[in-house]
Amino acid sequence: MLNDSIIHQTNLISEQITKNKLKIILNHLEHNLNQNLEGGVVEMGCYIGTTSLFIQRLLMKYHQSSNFFVYDSFQGLPDKTIEDLSIVGEQFQKSQLNCSKNDLIINFKKNNLPLPKITKAWFNQLTYRQLPEKIYFAFLDSDFYFSILDSLKLIWPIFNQKGTIVVDDYNYAALPGVTKAIELFFQNKNVKIRQLDNLAIITKN
Ligand SMILES: C[S@@+](CC[C@H](N)C(=O)[O-])C[C@H]1O[C@@H](n2cnc3c(N)ncnc32)[C@H](O)[C@@H]1O
Repeated sequence: MLNDSIIHQTNLISEQITKNKLKIILNHLEHNLNQNLEGGVVEMGCYIGTTSLFIQRLLMKYHQSSNFFVYDSFQGLPDKTIEDLSIVGEQFQKSQLNCSKNDLIINFKKNNLPLPKITKAWFNQLTYRQLPEKIYFAFLDSDFYFSILDSLKLIWPIFNQKGTIVVDDYNYAALPGVTKAIELFFQNKNVKIRQLDNLAIITKN
């Protein structure tokens, strides 16, 4: 139970993820690691690294720590669009979750973990030169409709179809844009979407 020990021995540095969700994310990543799939691991929306630290701990056990790529605006959330408006209220506003790239670096250093490849950018401005050639595992955690849609459009052409895409906040009433983006993007694609906790687990059908 490698993941159980990684998760239980270490505290979370923010409330951006729960231990239950972490366990689900790491179990799927470990399944893909054991398959030796071609490509890299990406996190789109890394913030201060709450989840990234755990992904890196697992990748280290598999000597894959140099194969981890994380992305964020490091300017917090963008503007909401109409797809993001929620009946449960007005949480999650522009510029919330603002931190610097250095905050993320410090958290990796404090935890004695090798740094992932960190890119500061809005997702719709990223180019393929800033991504690994192929991706077998993606964790998407960027809260809003266009943020998730932009990430999916970007990673899909280079996604290793044997891998896994995990998206946070699926069917979460406060962030309705996430589910809308997933449903729109995958409507004509041959994938299986399962929900575990508030995570969408997307794999080839
Ligand atoms: C919920 S936080 C991510 C939490 C992180 N995964 C963790 O475990 O700590 C969402 C992050 O997505 C980033 N973000 C949202 N939309 C973005 C976009 N379109 N381009 C770049 N970054 C974006 C925000 O800056 C924020 O840091």
